[in-house]
Amino acid sequence: MRKNNKRDRQMDKEKIIVALDVNKIKELERLLDLLSPYVKVFKVGMELFYSCGPKALDIVKKYDREIFLDLKFHDIPNTVRSSAKVATRLGVFMFNVHASGGSEMMKAAVEGSEEESAKLGVDRPRILGVTVLTSMDNAALKQTGINASPENQVLNLARLTKESGLDGVVASPKEISLVRKETGKDFLIVTPGVRPEDSEKGDQKRTATPKEALELGADYIVIGRPVTKAENPVKTIKSILG
Ligand code: C5P
Repeated sequence: MRKNNKRDRQMDKEKIIVALDVNKIKELERLLDLLSPYVKVFKVGMELFYSCGPKALDIVKKYDREIFLDLKFHDIPNTVRSSAKVATRLGVFMFNVHASGGSEMMKAAVEGSEEESAKLGVDRPRILGVTVLTSMDNAALKQTGINASPENQVLNLARLTKESGLDGVVASPKEISLVRKETGKDFLIVTPGVRPEDSEKGDQKRTATPKEALELGADYIVIGRPVTKAENPVKTIKSILG
């Protein structure tokens, strides 16, 4: 029987990704000062990247932390190939593309990133497919001409993502088990929409606690506002880590 020792109760700090959804360097530095001792990977999304550019990434790197660049590329294969090269040159640990951009586009992302990492002599960043945005329900999908249910569409796109050579997908807590069953154990599942038990859900609908998401089979969980907007972010992250 497994002992319920401290190590068992502790959350693996390498599995928690904190979303740095701010738009000023000062705010970024404040969060990194507070959180970098506890978190290894930080997510830089559109708000921060479009406000502060690659400088934001340089700052995260100064703290010796890894970056998940969440810009969800979705364009013609040639443009995505070049953008994947740029993301690779920026030295990120992980970036993502919309799986609905199709197999040719996803393969272009992998090829561009592979070419650039070989040139630089570095490891290729992990590349994830975004399947169905968690804000899309049946009706919203139908409006875009997709008649599959969100669950089936997630599975279709997760399969396509794997076949196209990507390393994993972004999936909500509700979809983790389905995707894991479909794609097997070596495929990364990164899960946003995670909320500690006592926190506000905000606009996230299908939530799970960090522990539940990991038990369901997520490899990484993404958590933003419950930590970054907390009165005491250090206390909050420490309580998540256990
Ligand atoms: O603040 P919160 O914990 O909701 O942040 C979740 C982060 O994950 C946000 O940066 C959001 O853009 C991102 N995300 C998401 N749902 C997806 C994909 C990304 O919430 N399906």
